[in-house]
Order: sequence, then structure tokens, then C-alpha cells
Amino acid sequence: MHVVTLSAQDAPRYRALMLHAYEAAADAFTSTAEERATEPESWWIMRLADPKAMSVAFGAIDNGKLVGTVTIEFSSKPKTRHKAHLIGMFVMEYARGTGAGKALLAAALEAAKVRPEVQVITLTVTEGNLPATRLYESAGFKVFGVEPMAVATPGGFKSKVHMWLELPHSPHATKLSGAR
Ligand SMILES: CC(C)(COP(=O)(O)OP(=O)(O)OC[C@H]1O[C@@H](n2cnc3c(N)ncnc32)[C@H](O)[C@@H]1OP(=O)(O)O)[C@@H](O)C(=O)NCCC(=O)NCCS
Repeated sequence: MHVVTLSAQDAPRYRALMLHAYEAAADAFTSTAEERATEPESWWIMRLADPKAMSVAFGAIDNGKLVGTVTIEFSSKPKTRHKAHLIGMFVMEYARGTGAGKALLAAALEAAKVRPEVQVITLTVTEGNLPATRLYESAGFKVFGVEPMAVATPGGFKSKVHMWLELPHSPHATKLSGAR
């Protein structure tokens, strides 16, 4: 298994993987497969090949197959360009537990670290999603809040746990560790 940066030519297999993800792990995502299935090809291409590079998607490849993905979104706005947001983490059921999620997360974090302006990475995870929560915690993400009734699922409303990671080059992180 290895991780690559996805590009426009990966759009068909990325679309297939994510449509499966929205169904197979419905509680983990805020979009439904039905909604996303109606998106035009250009939407999927934009997700993988944003001309302004404000969004970068990674793929876990095993035996030539796309078995997992994650996307990191950056901001060009002066007041929020210090923050990146992680979305769309999914690993195929049969490929889980072998390090694909960890490798995808590491690639996304690396992409953030090489941008000196990025100091913070945020994400949300549905309450009770232990594998994902553990994965993010293992990379240093910490919980900073919980949004009640964040998503409507067939089993009722579920909360979203908000997590963040301060990158080592954040002046705030340096100040905190220096104060210890
Ligand atoms: C969350 C997910 C991406 C993890 O992918 P994965 O490839 O199985 O993860 P890895 O094998 O790289 O495991 C990395 C770490 O995650 C945690 N983890 C993974 N599976 C776990 C499980 N079943 N129970 C508890 N922790 C688990 C562990 O901390 C693990 O590290 P370790 O092996 O050193 O203990 C995968 O389970 C998935 O796609 N789930 C459905 C979609 C989803 O929930 N996405 C997240 C949206 S926020």
C-alpha cells in the first residue's frame, strides 16, 4: 500500500469510492450518496484538481486499486489562512486495520506542514466513531467541542466532535510548550 496525491484523472474511481463511503459509513459523513451522485463530473474533478491548490486529495493505493482517501482544504482568506480542514477520510472495509488511514493522515499533515502559513488543522468526527477518533488522537488531535444534533441519521440525531491539531511551527504551540 502506498499513498499518492490524486489528480483529475482519478475522478471516476474517487467518485466510486466516495459514493460507496457515503452509504457504507453513512453516520460518518454529512452528505448522502444520493446527493453526491447528482454532482456533475466537474464537481469531482474540482475536488481532486483545484486550480488554486486550496484542496488536496490523497489516495491509498493497494495492488493498483484506490482503497482509501482523505482531503485537506486550505483557505486563501487573510483571516483564516492559518487554518486547514480535514474531510472525506475513508478506507475500504477490506483494507482497514493495516495502516492505510494512518498513512493518509500523515500525508495530509505533511501537506499542511509545508505551508508555513498553516498553523492549525481542524476536523469533525461523529460521536461514537471510535476507530476514527483513535486515529486522530494518535496523531495528536485534541477535542475542543461537541456540536449536539449535528447530523440527522436513521438512528436519530448524532453529535459531531470537533478536534484540532496545532502544528509545531505555530507560535502559539511554541509558547505553550515553552511555558511547561
Ligand atoms: C477510520 C478509518 C479511516 C481508519 O482507517 P484504517 O486504515 O483502518 O486505520 P489504520 O489501520 O491506519 O489504524 C490507525 C489507527 O486508527 C485507530 N483504529 C483503527 N481502527 C480501529 C478500531 N477498529 N478500533 C479502535 N481504533 C482503531 C488505531 O489508533 C490505529 O492505530 P494502531 O493500529 O497503532 O492502534 C476507517 O475505519 C474508516 O474508513 N471508517 C469509516 C469512515 C470513517 O469513519 N471516516 C472518518 C470520518 S471523520
